[in-house]
Amino acid sequence: MTASAPRSILPPPAAQEREHSERLAALIGAELGAAGGWLSFERFMELALYAPGLGYYSAGSVKLGTGGDFVTAPEVSDLFSRCIARQCAAVLASTGGEILELGAGTGSMAGAVLSELAVLGALPQRYAILEVSADLAQRQRERLARLPAALRERLVWLDRLPASPLRGVVLANEVTDALPCRRFRRYAEGLGELGVVAHETDGMLSFIEAERVADASLVRAYREILTDLPEPPPAGYTSEICLRVDAWIASLAACLDRGVLLLCDYGLPRRHYYHPQRSAGTLRCHYRQLAHDDPYINVGLQDITAWVDFTRVANAAHAAGLELRGFATQAAFLLGCGIEEMVLQAAGSVEQARRAGEARRLIMPEEMGEAFKVMGLTRGLDIPLAGFALQDLRHLL
Ligand SMILES: C[S@@+](CC[C@H](N)C(=O)[O-])C[C@H]1O[C@@H](n2cnc3c(N)ncnc32)[C@H](O)[C@@H]1O
Repeated sequence: MTASAPRSILPPPAAQEREHSERLAALIGAELGAAGGWLSFERFMELALYAPGLGYYSAGSVKLGTGGDFVTAPEVSDLFSRCIARQCAAVLASTGGEILELGAGTGSMAGAVLSELAVLGALPQRYAILEVSADLAQRQRERLARLPAALRERLVWLDRLPASPLRGVVLANEVTDALPCRRFRRYAEGLGELGVVAHETDGMLSFIEAERVADASLVRAYREILTDLPEPPPAGYTSEICLRVDAWIASLAACLDRGVLLLCDYGLPRRHYYHPQRSAGTLRCHYRQLAHDDPYINVGLQDITAWVDFTRVANAAHAAGLELRGFATQAAFLLGCGIEEMVLQAAGSVEQARRAGEARRLIMPEEMGEAFKVMGLTRGLDIPLAGFALQDLRHLL
């Protein structure tokens, strides 16, 4: 996702959006009341994003793309997905089988990957999508219905991970950052967990940040992180820990018989993620192409994300028996997959200039090139992976 702006310039939501947000706030308020007046940030984020019919991803707002709240790499250009397709083609040539995409958004990556694989003569047996948002799954179906029949017929939507392990590729672009995370604040003595309490003024329900003493699971996770840091974060330091990554990676590993899991997301190795200077954490909200750091406004109308601690992902993958085959910036991955040749192959100078502009957005360090990383986790796969040939950042994890 790209965009950055202070909260003060956020456009006000329309009346209908406000009404929607109030319905979700009421639902969160009811759960908060039943829980004794406090909810962890993790649960707040889960409800704000995924409460059935009301959460940001579950309800009908535009969300992704230029008319929505944020733009992801597949929405910037199909060059991104075509590079992913090239990596998939090499893997599928060795494993056969299928592609499973998690959280497919508008379906743009699925369409472009399948189209490129058709050109390369490397179509998978099927292209499965597992999407938690019923709204987005419907949009994916509508968009992908326009593909030629030979591609369309390979698509299938799943409502859970496959029961029997698959051969091929599992893809997730900007999904790990959408997993609800816990938030902590470090004190000279002890650890606090951030959560929310409800506040009502003139009948309007809102949420305010409130802390509790961290429970044993959060303290354990925090101490584990400390063992990887050169020094403990300073007092007052606030950040996130996404404990759900562990079970999520374990479940993905369990459904991969042979092949690769490719995770693309903005994130950092642990030592950089929990750097003392990143003292307010990495939590960001996205609303109408503007980024800010207040998750308690526009509840259900804005995306909430936190950067990915890729060391946690790598540890979880190792515990689940996967091999860490690559960790690189998005720029290095796309260059390794041949994005430059794709630009040069564009027909005519106007098209080439347009393609060069798109590629710049995907690979320049100040755009998406550096902050976004790609991680390749494999099982039973010994072929070279072109996306990781130019850069190896595994030693930083
Ligand atoms: C930020 S969007 C990214 C969409 C798309 N991959 C892209 O790059 O444009 C996050 C997506 O992940 C989905 N999602 C969130 N948690 C998920 C999970 N546990 N399994 C599958 N999809 C998930 C959301 O519904 C949404 O489609």
